[in-house]
Amino acid sequence: MTTQRTALVLGATGLVGGEVVRLLLADPTYHKVLVLVRRNLPLRHDKLEQHLVDFDRLSQHNALFAVDDVFCCLGTTIRKAGSQEAFRKVDYTYPYEAARLAAEQGVRQFLLVTALGANAQSGIFYNRVKGEVEAAISNLALPAFHIFRPSLLLGDRQEVRLGEQIGKVVAGATGFLMLGPLKKYKGIQAATVAEAMLQVAKRGGAGKHVYQSDQIQEMGK
Ligand SMILES: NC(=O)c1ccc[n+]([C@@H]2O[C@H](COP(=O)([O-])OP(=O)(O)OC[C@H]3O[C@@H](n4cnc5c(N)ncnc54)[C@H](OP(=O)(O)O)[C@@H]3O)[C@@H](O)[C@H]2O)c1
Repeated sequence: MTTQRTALVLGATGLVGGEVVRLLLADPTYHKVLVLVRRNLPLRHDKLEQHLVDFDRLSQHNALFAVDDVFCCLGTTIRKAGSQEAFRKVDYTYPYEAARLAAEQGVRQFLLVTALGANAQSGIFYNRVKGEVEAAISNLALPAFHIFRPSLLLGDRQEVRLGEQIGKVVAGATGFLMLGPLKKYKGIQAATVAEAMLQVAKRGGAGKHVYQSDQIQEMGK
């Protein structure tokens, strides 16, 4: 791998994506950090290049995918998106299209955040979409594909998500019980996920790898 790398981040305005950008900008391994956003990050940095794009037309920006490492942290909720179809667009179509363009442009590695329970055969719509996007991207000709499946994400979120708020209270109250095989269900800081993604990216390595929440926790602390 080149000593000075370029990175592209999708979902840079989000909880995990924001942490990934912060880490990439601070890391001398990366000399250029491109972000594809639909609203600009309130951030200026010599290494940072922001591109306002229409995510329904990602292929118009294919040249931007000619980087070393792509970090995809896109995501929404069915409630926020408004329908299952709209959710699927953000959590399946956009990441898949990004991975397709990345493969076409010859990236070294594609790192994707999905979620605990991702499973293309799941009866739960959310888990199924996450599993389906993992499976679809696995079929692309990417030299390396790293999948991160975090549990409930913890961190400072502007928007109030009732389900997640309840989850956080439960996670806080029961976190100490999450031992052994239950460890992967424990809530995890978005910054920890980002840290693990960066470590994996810097380590390199070929092929497909899946990281469960407890492994992410270990790597990212
Ligand atoms: N929240 C959890 O507890 C949890 C748990 C496990 C896994 N995950 C998964 O982890 C990943 C990261 O989660 P997060 O909480 O960091 O996400 P987040 O804070 O909600 O950020 C989501 C990112 O996706 C972008 N996005 C959403 N809808 C979009 C659209 N229609 N067009 C273009 N961009 C769009 C957002 O851009 P804007 O700022 O422009 O909206 C933002 O950059 C997601 O895949 C999520 O499903 C989340």
